[in-house]
Amino acid sequence: MAKHSVGWVASQKRWLLAFLVMLSVSTLIAFFIRAAFDTCDRNLDVVDKRPSTVPYSDFIVGASPNPLKFMKSKLVLLVSHELSLSGGPLLLMELAFLLRSVGAEIYWVTIQKPVDTGEVVYSLEHKMLNRGVQVFSARGQEAVDTALKADLVVLNTAVSGKWLDLVLKEHVVRVLPKVLWWIHEMRGHYFKLDYVKHLPLVSGAMIDSHVTAEYWQNRTRERLRIKMPHTYVVHLGNSKELMDVAEDRVAKRVLREHVRESLGVRSEDIVFAIINSVSRGKGQDLFLRSFYESLQMIQEKKLQVPMMHAVIVGSDMNAQTKFESELRSYVIQKKIQDRVHFVNKTLTVAPYLAAIDVLVQNSQARGECFGRITIEAMAFQLPVLGTAAGGTTEIVVNGTTGLLHPAGKEGVTPLAKNIVKLATHVERRLTMGKRGYEKVKERFLEHHMADRIATVLKEVLRRSKSHTDS
Ligand SMILES: *[C@@H]1O[C@H](CO)[C@@H](O)[C@H](O)[C@H]1NC(C)=O
Ligand SMILES: *[C@@H]1O[C@H](CO)[C@@H](O)[C@H](O)[C@H]1NC(C)=O
Ligand SMILES: *[C@@H]1O[C@H](CO)[C@@H](O)[C@H](O)[C@H]1NC(C)=O
Repeated sequence: MAKHSVGWVASQKRWLLAFLVMLSVSTLIAFFIRAAFDTCDRNLDVVDKRPSTVPYSDFIVGASPNPLKFMKSKLVLLVSHELSLSGGPLLLMELAFLLRSVGAEIYWVTIQKPVDTGEVVYSLEHKMLNRGVQVFSARGQEAVDTALKADLVVLNTAVSGKWLDLVLKEHVVRVLPKVLWWIHEMRGHYFKLDYVKHLPLVSGAMIDSHVTAEYWQNRTRERLRIKMPHTYVVHLGNSKELMDVAEDRVAKRVLREHVRESLGVRSEDIVFAIINSVSRGKGQDLFLRSFYESLQMIQEKKLQVPMMHAVIVGSDMNAQTKFESELRSYVIQKKIQDRVHFVNKTLTVAPYLAAIDVLVQNSQARGECFGRITIEAMAFQLPVLGTAAGGTTEIVVNGTTGLLHPAGKEGVTPLAKNIVKLATHVERRLTMGKRGYEKVKERFLEHHMADRIATVLKEVLRRSKSHTDS
């Protein structure tokens, strides 16, 4: 790494320097995320680089008025099923800060606090208290009183439904008309009456993608014989912090050089990566098979391509899973150790997005509920090779911002071919990356998400008010 760039970093972006230091002493403060991942849950970049004295609202919507302004002085209770560094709770925290920024009064309760993540819980709660979010126990009288007083109650994820009966008891019916239920799950075991029996009576449901919303409509009708409330699809947006790095050429170059050096990847090599917790549902095994197949195709056809690498970010050897060992033995068996790199789970995805050339989103079965990493990669001008499933199909434009392949074993060869395509057609790859970035600027920024959420909150408040008035 060139000296002058470090100097630049030190003066311009202290956090970036701090980050590089952390990286280089490989004890990167990796917040390990619990193994149980949901389709929507993912480790997000929550490193807080924003000076806390600056009002958040100044950041989110340049000249246009903040769409959430009408929430000023509204009392909102946020109910999180847990507090960890996974997608669901972090999104709810982002909402908390958006609402705080316009002067809403925000209360937060966490239903389930696992003992082993005590430190993470403590630091997240601390962060919220610093921003004026009031945190208290999910089971006390305070929670009940606040729910009764609140203008709006946001339940985060399907499992939070249990809290309603457990804590509110006889008051449930009074609270339901002001509940907005934010759902990020798409797995069978969430379709339990235990969790979701109150769905028909809440004011609204907010779901991350059209396909997930449709899935909920189907399953609640067919399996549970209950009706969904008013349902809104709200695509997520990229955080301001992530966009700052993505749009900073120098920061990106420094991170790219640094990460590549740490992995032993040269600047002219081409890197394909999956950034997701390692699990069968995320399809790292099938990706490695495709990668190996693409190497064979290149050899057979004697194609001229740069040295190719596959990076798997999201590894957790501590968990000692069978799946993780399977991946490693496959790599050894195929003798591709010099081309496949495993990186531990980390919250800071930006350096890896800066370092790679193509993001692979290989989530299997019904795919991702949304898959925030997809829009994060697009912000870094990366094309995406994704499964034609779930939220990915609502983000990636096949042939324009990336290429889609089928989920399952039948997707292995198509993905291998797509890998070869992007390795051999540099121009096409770069153009797709640029188109992806344009799409993010059009639709997937924080202020787009805030706009969409504002529309939902307005309607939910209006409905709950007319309910109270009548
Ligand atoms: C929902 O049900 C309809 C009709 O049965 C079906 O065509 C559609 O594929 C289902 N959608 C999902 C996401 O399950
Ligand atoms: C990754 O995790 C493993 C297992 O927890 C640990 O032994 C290793 O040092 C970690 N690697 C880095 C680079 O932090
Ligand atoms: C994506 O586009 C390619 C052609 O560019 C096509 O062969 C493939 O079937 C498309 N896949 C999906 C899922 O639409």
